[in-house]
Amino acid sequence: MKSVSPSLVLLALLGYFTAAIPATFWMEEVAHQGFAPYAEDGYVVFRNVKDYGAKGDGVTDDSDAINAAISDGNRCGQGCQSSTTTPAVVYFPAGTYVLSTSILPAYMTLLIGDANSPPTLKAASSFTGLGLIDGDPYYNSPDPNWLSTNLFYRQIRNFVIDTTAIDAATLAYGIHWPTAQATSLQNVKFVMPTTAGVAHIGLFIESGSGGFMTDLTFEGGAIGASLGNQQFTMRNLAFDSCVTAINQLWDWGWTYYGLDIKNCVVGLNISSGGSSAQSVGSITVFDSAFTSVNVAVVSAYVPNVSQPTTAGSIILENIVANQVPVIVQTPDGNLLTGGAAVTVAAWGQGHQYIPNGPTSLQGGFNGNERPSSLLASGNPVAAAAGVPGSYYARAKPQYETLRACHFMSARAAGAKGDGVTDDTAALQEVINFATRTGNVVYIDYGLYLVTSTLTIPPGARIVGEAYPVIMAGGDSFFKSDSNPQPLLQVGATSGEQGTVELSDFVLATQGAQAGAILIQWNLDASASSNLGGLWDVHTRVGGFAGSKLQVAQCLKNPQSSTVNTECIGAFMSMHITEAAAAVYAENVWIWTADHDMDDWNNTQISIYAGRGLYVESSAGPVWLVGTAAEHHTLYQYQFAAARDVFMGQVQTETPYFQPNPVATVPFEANATYNDPDFSGCDSNDATCAMAWGIRILNSDTILVYGIGLYSFFSNYAQTCIPGRSCQARIASIEGSSTTVNIYNLNTIGATSMLDKDGTSLASAADNENVYPDTVALFQS
Ligand SMILES: *[C@@H]1O[C@H](CO)[C@@H](O)[C@H](O)[C@H]1NC(C)=O
Ligand SMILES: *[C@@H]1O[C@H](CO)[C@@H](O)[C@H](O)[C@H]1NC(C)=O
Ligand SMILES: *[C@@H]1O[C@H](CO)[C@@H](O)[C@H](O)[C@H]1NC(C)=O
Ligand SMILES: *[C@@H]1O[C@H](CO)[C@@H](O)[C@H](O)[C@H]1NC(C)=O
Repeated sequence: MKSVSPSLVLLALLGYFTAAIPATFWMEEVAHQGFAPYAEDGYVVFRNVKDYGAKGDGVTDDSDAINAAISDGNRCGQGCQSSTTTPAVVYFPAGTYVLSTSILPAYMTLLIGDANSPPTLKAASSFTGLGLIDGDPYYNSPDPNWLSTNLFYRQIRNFVIDTTAIDAATLAYGIHWPTAQATSLQNVKFVMPTTAGVAHIGLFIESGSGGFMTDLTFEGGAIGASLGNQQFTMRNLAFDSCVTAINQLWDWGWTYYGLDIKNCVVGLNISSGGSSAQSVGSITVFDSAFTSVNVAVVSAYVPNVSQPTTAGSIILENIVANQVPVIVQTPDGNLLTGGAAVTVAAWGQGHQYIPNGPTSLQGGFNGNERPSSLLASGNPVAAAAGVPGSYYARAKPQYETLRACHFMSARAAGAKGDGVTDDTAALQEVINFATRTGNVVYIDYGLYLVTSTLTIPPGARIVGEAYPVIMAGGDSFFKSDSNPQPLLQVGATSGEQGTVELSDFVLATQGAQAGAILIQWNLDASASSNLGGLWDVHTRVGGFAGSKLQVAQCLKNPQSSTVNTECIGAFMSMHITEAAAAVYAENVWIWTADHDMDDWNNTQISIYAGRGLYVESSAGPVWLVGTAAEHHTLYQYQFAAARDVFMGQVQTETPYFQPNPVATVPFEANATYNDPDFSGCDSNDATCAMAWGIRILNSDTILVYGIGLYSFFSNYAQTCIPGRSCQARIASIEGSSTTVNIYNLNTIGATSMLDKDGTSLASAADNENVYPDTVALFQS
């Protein structure tokens, strides 16, 4: 009998596993054929910083070479408002890039490092600038270059940000990232000095309307993350040996989960402004661990005393605290004490409605009973930190184990992406072929015109380069609102079994397409071990070059209530159908444009799209992680006979033109889609027939972890905000069987925060917060 030496077997296995992670990330080696049809001739979408002279050798100052790679091609930088016409991936091979000044990403830049060997950005000791990456420079002005609430479509992923060579006592920042929707940070490690008196801050955000981040690590520093923004979803953030892990500068609402905070003095400090003028509206923290932290949460909230009334609202759920003497500290003392090993099932402060109120909450409460379907395999980061029973979560797949040959280019398959050619057949063919052969579709940057439905079969994996755009266009197929048709149909039939993975692209329309449903999700992934999902996939109706729904066609006209039918952009942005199950959506921004991103002045436009995200999944589970829907005429989110839904942070905005015309114009209610008909509205009441932020009908176990429903305008005027009279109602729960629990409900501009079967449950005036109005805890 021949024997095989165990060490040879081991070597063979080692060879196998080594081969499983290629030495170089596929993105570096794949053919780069992105084409930006509205940029200057010869414009290059993908830039490898080494092609611009960066060395990455740990010695050479690469600042200028990297900034040259970014700015090549007349991009949207200093003085430019925004632009979709010059997107770029700026790619960093493995290495250490020394910086003496900040990297300045232009508008629509994705800074991507080798995922298999994340490059280090290392500050020189002489470094000057607001962050190694300064995402929105001030250029000596009082305001940052881009209005941070309009700073969309950008990413940073796969980097180590190292400030240790900068004198520890000098104020220094890792990344400056004021930002808005459709942006993400993923897989970034911040390394700062741990010396006493350290002043470094890893991540600094002072404004904007975010946004999403996941898988960030912070070591050392005075503050890991110093954060101010309207709202954000942040998941899987690990902090070790920071003085303060998170310093919350201000917010309206914030959703944190998968926090793992170790060896810090303070976990989250939300006391900014003090009791007389708190600047933090609310935070929702769950599935998180604190270990060897003196105080987990510092707050300035004192019931009926601190100002504004509901500022400093907190919800904690499923928190594990080991060696944490104090879990919540307020001016009233240590309200929630910890100890050697404590689990906090659910604790909150602020106003509660169960379902009537307000009454004061400051203490434990009965947290959500989580359906096991929503836990699935849990969140691996929370589980590793010792937190049991966490909600399922999965970051955007980056395909580290695949080689460049596994990616099939849409352009190589014959699609043009020039915004003019009909690419329907070429795209469908490459999607089918790649899926059949186990490969990934790579959509090179471009604007792909499609004139009938694209069907995504189970098993498909599709990834875009710099947010390519697939547009529903043509003269007939998508035109009829009495016969709506999907642009992207995920699963050919309702309830088809299987999974898909979609990331980094945009679905849109070209011209008036009153019958377009941009995404129709039919798949049931519940029997699959990999649930799949969609990550950084966004919908965008109008407001960009190539859409034919811009200032020239759709300039706002507050004097007129007549709808320009050439500006009816879409029927519905996204539909999760009845038999769809196990749907995971992360960082998805469902936007009907309120302004033209390619207009020099970002001029406002009136575009009409009927419905935002419509969820009918009757079995669930559905996870909506860091999603937002804005400016649809009937509703932003609607759930009908849905069950087992997890969502947070959710954010919506009502169309700026309403009530001129009202919500039922130009799309009348169609019972097939359970549309709201606003039949109870008095036609003399201009605040009544306004789009719902969220409407939940006959649904079971809808669990909301942070939601902001904003109404900023009435017929383009903002004078209605302080009096909360932009609209009468904004959130509706209907049907006796409906069960909904909401943590930190924030509304703006609405008189009633929440209605049940036509009756207001919560008056906004009773729940004043920093700018929104807030109910910390609602249980139906
Ligand atoms: C919390 O932050 C405030 C500034 O917003 C600061 O004054 C206070 O000292 C901090 N508290 C702790 C315990 O670090
Ligand atoms: C504080 O305000 C709540 C209503 O928000 C009220 O129910 C409660 O009685 C008040 N408590 C005190 C001590 O005034
Ligand atoms: C309502 O929707 C259904 C299904 O799409 C469609 O067949 C019907 O024509 C629509 N009704 C109206 C009045 O548009
Ligand atoms: C932008 O707006 C200003 C002020 O209304 C106007 O003077 C200017 O011409 C506009 N610029 C462009 C390029 O439209």
